[in-house]
Amino acid sequence: MKYGYFDNDNREYVITRPDVPAPWTNYLGTEKFCTVISHNAGGYSFYNSPEYNRVTKFRPNASFDRPGHYVYLRDDETGDYWSISWQPVAKSLDEASYEIRHGLSYSKFKCEYNGITASKTLFVPKGEDAEVWDVVIKNDSDKPRTISAFSFVEFSFSHIESDNQNHQMSLYSAGTSYEDGVIECDLYYNTNEFEGFYYLASTFDPDSYDGQRDSFLGLYRDESNPIAVEQGKCSNTAQTCYNHCGSLHKQFVIQPGEEVRFVYILGLGKGNGAKLRAKYQNLENVDAAFAGIKAHWDERCAKFQVKSPNEGLDTMLNTWTLYQAETCVVWSRFASFIEVGGRTGLGYRDTAQDAMAVPHSNPEMTKKRLIDLLRGQVKAGYGLHLFDPDWFDPEKANIEPSKSPTVVPTPSDEDKIHGIEDTCSDDHLWLVPTICRYVMETGETDFFNEIIPFADGGEATVYDHMKAALDFTAEHVGRTGIAKGLRADWNDCLNLGGGESSMVAFLHYWAITEFIDLAKFLGKDEDIARYADMAGGVQNACEKHLWDEDGGWYIRGITKHGDKVGTNEQTEGKVHLESNTWAVVSGAVTQERGEKAMNAVDEYLYSDYGLHLNAPSFATPNDDIGFVTRVYQGVKENGAIFSHPNPWAWVAEAKLGRGDQAMKFYDALNPYNQNDMIEKRITEPYSYVQFIMGRDHQDHGRANHPWLTGTSGWAYIAATNFILGVRLSFDGLIIDPCIPTDWPGFDVTRQWRGATYNINVVNPNHVSKGITSITLNGETVDGAIAPQAEGTINTVTVVMG
Ligand code: GLC
Repeated sequence: MKYGYFDNDNREYVITRPDVPAPWTNYLGTEKFCTVISHNAGGYSFYNSPEYNRVTKFRPNASFDRPGHYVYLRDDETGDYWSISWQPVAKSLDEASYEIRHGLSYSKFKCEYNGITASKTLFVPKGEDAEVWDVVIKNDSDKPRTISAFSFVEFSFSHIESDNQNHQMSLYSAGTSYEDGVIECDLYYNTNEFEGFYYLASTFDPDSYDGQRDSFLGLYRDESNPIAVEQGKCSNTAQTCYNHCGSLHKQFVIQPGEEVRFVYILGLGKGNGAKLRAKYQNLENVDAAFAGIKAHWDERCAKFQVKSPNEGLDTMLNTWTLYQAETCVVWSRFASFIEVGGRTGLGYRDTAQDAMAVPHSNPEMTKKRLIDLLRGQVKAGYGLHLFDPDWFDPEKANIEPSKSPTVVPTPSDEDKIHGIEDTCSDDHLWLVPTICRYVMETGETDFFNEIIPFADGGEATVYDHMKAALDFTAEHVGRTGIAKGLRADWNDCLNLGGGESSMVAFLHYWAITEFIDLAKFLGKDEDIARYADMAGGVQNACEKHLWDEDGGWYIRGITKHGDKVGTNEQTEGKVHLESNTWAVVSGAVTQERGEKAMNAVDEYLYSDYGLHLNAPSFATPNDDIGFVTRVYQGVKENGAIFSHPNPWAWVAEAKLGRGDQAMKFYDALNPYNQNDMIEKRITEPYSYVQFIMGRDHQDHGRANHPWLTGTSGWAYIAATNFILGVRLSFDGLIIDPCIPTDWPGFDVTRQWRGATYNINVVNPNHVSKGITSITLNGETVDGAIAPQAEGTINTVTVVMG
């Protein structure tokens, strides 16, 4: 069953039936003001932190995605009313038609009902801390119509806790006031006139308004039938205490064939409402702001565009996967309809991997995140698993709480730095390749010499921070010499403690080899020798202790009591995705073992929806292995199709040279390919999800937790760098595809350091891998392509064979 389609010309997903089986969301905002909005216009806004600085309220986990950012319309001759988004009024789909276009950082809602066509486009202009609602109401009937419009948002009490608990405080801590088309909402303990100071403004002069939620909605009613809309007028309420909203009402008489256009603005800061109201009364400013958002994404997407025989791959890589990866980097992982904002900060491993995907499209944010992470690393080399970057930002740390209602005091070192028992074994290792990728992209080699403090005091160059990360893992190995599992590795639910993790051993090997490439590039001979030695030791330990000869794959780890996890003898947790993919991705194992391991992945883990994380799932609790054995079977880390490691399998197959397998795995996970089976998938088809129910669960195939998943970053890296094979090294641009044999070729446009490369790959002999020639502007190239002059447009022709 289908609910919409991909409109690639406009980079939009168009929902044509609003009764989708779950809220399908989008993200508005590219800087500090963010709104998570559903196709029903349900959702919430926050500034910078979804925990401390919420602008509008949201009730999570209800069967409705409410409240939201709504516009109601009322026919003042008949009293009939509806909303431009299907919800909350929810007219019957037989009498009204709705279309929702989720675009890149905007959502456009359109409704046709009873001779009136209305639309509202929500977006956050660049440079503004505000959301603009561009509303158009057109009279398509043959008689004049008198239509009232009402906005509705419910203002937050700023902190997520104030919205959800301790109402004896929050109910008496905020107030609204009204003046000249602006409702302002202020927290009484506010000493700063920006944060905790919200407004809703309209470009028209309102006929009536409400700042008190309960006056607008009325007793024993909800957003579906507000009394103000029913009666055609608000009650002009604005005062301190209770719950607050922003409703501005205006009646319009619209002649046949004519339209009215006006704007609502939702934002922060005393006085900003009046300022932006004046600005956007000139509708050209609205158009220019919207064009700014379009240009923002055109510029980012242009860094890598592909045209291949696989339309789903093109659609996702050219638009949606990059957009999702950027969303994770910019807004981190704690603001969605699943994570509704109760946490602020950065997960170490998540951030380090997310940032790896976007140095080309967003180098500024990549660098910012890298610095955040380096400041969150302790001298011993490991990273703080979850931290607020403000703790370590010299400009923000130790701001007195009284200066702002929304700045949280810096915790003590004891609260921040828990020590080894709270440390994950993989976190810090992801830093190394991400830093390398940032410098390969930008050429900013000075970054390696930048001095950055450690979280627990002292400081070091970025280069030495990287060594500390590698050394920490080398120093924390178990009895076989394989890296210890510690609190968890990438798999949060695999808690091996002093036991050992195959995945981390392979990840370590990979990070060391990436670092050796860097040391070679910088001419650091001593380090080349030292880390080559370290890599050799890790490789030997892996081959000696991790191969399960009987099964023909790599085990997942060893418990602290010496029991192997993931052997052929086991009936639960027999084959695992992370260890087998990483064995190959790392480059540590032979082609022969790598192929066998990936064959086992195909045999035991493949499904039409992607690769399972492990199979069969665990049914017997075993605390030596960890919480994974207590998770429901087929769910999350216990035998679901956990999306994030799927792209590791694409990289592994690409490294093995098996392009048909890489594409088989790619296609299975690609949400685009499930657009016509939403009754099964449930979730939006333009976003990867955290996990899909595995075959051991009744809902096998149902996708859960869209948007904030490391899948997007890795899907982007795996497909662009390894399947299409267009990637960077310290020597330059490499083109080394591994594609399905039925592809005759493909085209990629890559912008790198100001030059454009139009790459045409042809595959006359229908191979998966192998290059017979590369030419750059007609000249044969041997190896990597060096950066060309800024502003040049270069033609690269690649013949496979
Ligand atoms: C979640 C976590 C991530 C972890 C994964 C697997 O997505 O955010 O850090 O790697 O689960 O446990």
